[in-house]
Amino acid sequence: MKSLLADKKILFGISGSIAVYKAAEWVRELAKTGADVTVVMTDAATRFVSSLTFATLSGNRVYTGMFESDAGENVTHINLARECDLFIIAPATAQTIAKLANGFADNLLSSLALASRAKMLVFPAMNSNMYSHAATQANLARLKEYEYSIIEPDEGMLACGDEGVGRLVEWGVAREAILSSFTPQDLEEQTVIITAGPTCEPFDPARHMSNRSSGKMGFALARSAKRRGAKVILISGPTSLGAPSGVEMINVTSALQMHEVVMENYNNADIVVMSAAVSDYRPEKIAEQKIKKGSDSIDLEIVPNPDILKELGKRKDKTKRPLLVGFAAESSDHLEEGKRKLKEKNLDLIVINDIIGKDTGFGTDTNQVNLIDRDYQLEKLPLLAKEECAYIIWDKIVKLLQ
Ligand code: C5P
Repeated sequence: MKSLLADKKILFGISGSIAVYKAAEWVRELAKTGADVTVVMTDAATRFVSSLTFATLSGNRVYTGMFESDAGENVTHINLARECDLFIIAPATAQTIAKLANGFADNLLSSLALASRAKMLVFPAMNSNMYSHAATQANLARLKEYEYSIIEPDEGMLACGDEGVGRLVEWGVAREAILSSFTPQDLEEQTVIITAGPTCEPFDPARHMSNRSSGKMGFALARSAKRRGAKVILISGPTSLGAPSGVEMINVTSALQMHEVVMENYNNADIVVMSAAVSDYRPEKIAEQKIKKGSDSIDLEIVPNPDILKELGKRKDKTKRPLLVGFAAESSDHLEEGKRKLKEKNLDLIVINDIIGKDTGFGTDTNQVNLIDRDYQLEKLPLLAKEECAYIIWDKIVKLLQ
């Protein structure tokens, strides 16, 4: 899969906070995706971590001073600012933020910020009192007026021993902000509900029936919808995955709970994507005590769960909203089954995936899917990373919205 960041020129400004050590990891991750990262450090930043670390991790020369080399090269520095696709400042200290807000050009980093017209992402990191001070907040407000994106710092224990807001965000949050800046915001103003993972249907306090869904496809859909500007509500059965950044996540266990939460929220949704592997059946009764081992067999009365998607299909109003997307996990007769479900559930799109193939379906990082839309147009996709698969599904949904 060609990374979204491959060959993108990223200018990575670093100012002097203890959080510089975290920026080293970010530079490494960006370089791994194939991005062309050039690091610019303030003097104070080099006191925390040597420029050699960043040169090694980025594979590029690191720039530190305005006058560090022959005069002609200063023009090259300005070219860096002009040519970059994205300008990141992380960590951004109170001092650097104040310089940017007031148009100072007294070091290389602030000069490049003035010279650049690239999209700017600013990741503040500082002591919580410095961060909440009216001066810093006024400076940040000014940066927003200049259309800089500010990624608010986290709350927690700070290196100085204080607790509060000011900690540099984790890489996962930064990664999403960076990817989002290269993604068209074609889901802006859309509220999207995505269901993900398996459901677990208990029959005693210790045991349940479930399936092998990992939730990876649904979480990839949630991340990419968020990147494209949507407001995302992710309703997930039990998985081992962390909540995607910027997404409202509601955890459920059983199909009945998922049904309840979807019904509570779907009225506000423009799009509902049911990628969860909802158990079709559940044990009718849940024993209060753990069923004792001993007998050769146990009797479980199994009853059907409500079909959430079918119910939404029936409720679809005259405006044809919300747009409904279903998943069909099949092991045989894939396309026929997909078409049948598309019609039966009154869907706009069905994503059919093969759960038998080696690299596709439950638990894998890749997926091979076929899409059939409401006009029965079939699109066969190759084996792709689930993230890339998610992008193409959203491309299709955006077309169907029009
Ligand atoms: O009919 P089948 O279970 O194969 O349909 C799969 C699609 O229907 C998926 O999108 C799944 O999330 C949804 N579904 C549902 N409620 C159920 C079972 C499946 O919404 N009880």
